[in-house]
Amino acid sequence: MTRTALLLPFAVLIGSCGQSAPTERKLSVPADFAFRSASITLPDDATSLPAGAAIVTQNCTGCHSAEMITVQPPLDAAKWQAEIDKMRGVFKAPIDPADDPRLIAALTALAPSVGADPGADRGEAGTDERGRP
Ligand code: HEC
Repeated sequence: MTRTALLLPFAVLIGSCGQSAPTERKLSVPADFAFRSASITLPDDATSLPAGAAIVTQNCTGCHSAEMITVQPPLDAAKWQAEIDKMRGVFKAPIDPADDPRLIAALTALAPSVGADPGADRGEAGTDERGRP
């Protein structure tokens, strides 16, 4: 028996140990696939944010229209903070935490604050839009 024949079983054993390494997956792309430029027309966003809300424009309108921000229900500061945290954490929005206080002030100023009396601006304190208490 030759030395090679004796070593062969060990070579097979050692060779199979390497099989646990992750194998590289190759994606199959159709042969006729090609990237090409396309042009799409986005809907107009007629809404614009007030000058005092520049911090909102800088941090939010990269992903959202101004209208999307302004149609949110009135949220209190804690809920806006949670919303900003979610944008940053879940959706990876690059919002500097140092901007949070100014953002929250601007966002709460965009909509009437929670808990505001809905009848207050009509001098009907304590009633809703149908005059109910
Ligand atoms: C990196 C992109 C990105 C940025 C920047 C961003 N958002 Fe979002 N936002 C998202 C995505 C994605 C969703 C989920 C949309 C969906 O579910 O249809 C979302 C959803 C929302 C919602 C809907 C409620 C919710 O929790 O899903 C609100 C309100 C919102 N964002 C407000 C903001 C505000 C305010 C800012 C700026 C401080 C902001 N977003 C910045 C990506 C972003």
